[in-house]
Amino acid sequence: MSITGNLRQRLGPRKRAVQTMLSNKVPQFIGAANFFHLNGAFREEQAAVAAGKKKHLEGELDHSNRMFLRRSVHRIEKGLISQPRRDTFAADYIGRTVETAVSFQEILKQDDPGELKWASDVLNRYFEATQNSTDRRIGAARERWLSVGVKDSDNGVGDISGNACELAPFEQPQLSDAADRYQSLTAIAYHRRSVRWFEDKPVERELVEEAAAVGLTAPSACNRQSFRLLVVDDEDLRKRVAEVPMGTAGFSHQIPAMAVLIGQHRGYEHERDRHAIYVDGGLFTTGFILALEGLGLNTCCINWPELKSKNERIRDLIDLDSDERVIMMIAIGYGVPNQLVPRSHKRSVSAVVQWA
Ligand SMILES: Cc1cc2nc3c(=O)[nH]c(=O)nc-3n(C[C@H](O)[C@H](O)[C@H](O)COP(=O)(O)O)c2cc1C
Repeated sequence: MSITGNLRQRLGPRKRAVQTMLSNKVPQFIGAANFFHLNGAFREEQAAVAAGKKKHLEGELDHSNRMFLRRSVHRIEKGLISQPRRDTFAADYIGRTVETAVSFQEILKQDDPGELKWASDVLNRYFEATQNSTDRRIGAARERWLSVGVKDSDNGVGDISGNACELAPFEQPQLSDAADRYQSLTAIAYHRRSVRWFEDKPVERELVEEAAAVGLTAPSACNRQSFRLLVVDDEDLRKRVAEVPMGTAGFSHQIPAMAVLIGQHRGYEHERDRHAIYVDGGLFTTGFILALEGLGLNTCCINWPELKSKNERIRDLIDLDSDERVIMMIAIGYGVPNQLVPRSHKRSVSAVVQWA
């Protein structure tokens, strides 16, 4: 146990004020760096980042890292659209990208045929675009790709709108009816509010998945989307999961579905990217909750307190890998009609937006 943790235990429950004072004042006396080592509050996060880094690097070497594949295919796409386009690019990772695509093809055929088609279409384009390159690494990767390649990736998978097409860089058309579409978006955005009281009515899984598809259109760091969403709608488990975070006190028992957004550090090889799971998860959530609102459902995002005790409790209820962190939870259900919701007035644009 950490020194401040020990101290707290010895003080006993009646000395909460002293405890709070200690955790607030100790950093001032001993300095931020010493506090970091003594306090231990960041230790679990650090361990998860390290576990993710290990998973990433091991997976990259034995070609079992899907996130490496996603990132590499994305980087290759950026090379394909660069102006002017070079004859040689991506040479330092093209060999590993091809091997990873090949080794994943059977899994992806079952699991995510779109991902396989995207990788395959982009690699085909890449080898066309680098035909004049004299780089031996590209030559070797091309040979390997042409001889082994990915078979039957063109299995009728379309783009995110369901249109059958090549999943490679494309000319984006102008948005038709942009003004109308903007109005629909703002109507949902201005209408949505966090709702905490729900009808005793199950949430259709198809609707949650439909909304997740909208959430997944969000931008993400190198298009990795290194997270998963566990939606708990089991009668018993959902109540136990909903009780764990602090912010559900008083309403946890009647949440029909509790979504747990889980970040996976394995998507990142550098600790400098340790915040990406939270950023990407947050962006996903925005689209997700707006889409749920549009589908007639209500939501309330729930804070995940970064505490050892909470992490231990949630790990007792759901399986979490060593690099996985809960980002937040999202309560989902049909709101009780005519309930009061907090106004939660937003800050004004002028108070937030600055120009320089
Ligand atoms: C990351 C995050 C954590 C939140 N945590 C909680 C929570 O623990 N309990 C709760 O009742 N509401 C929680 N909320 C809801 C906020 O209170 C709410 O979004 C905010 O007041 C704005 O209101 P609105 O969502 O109705 O616009 C959370 C929201 C976010 C985005």
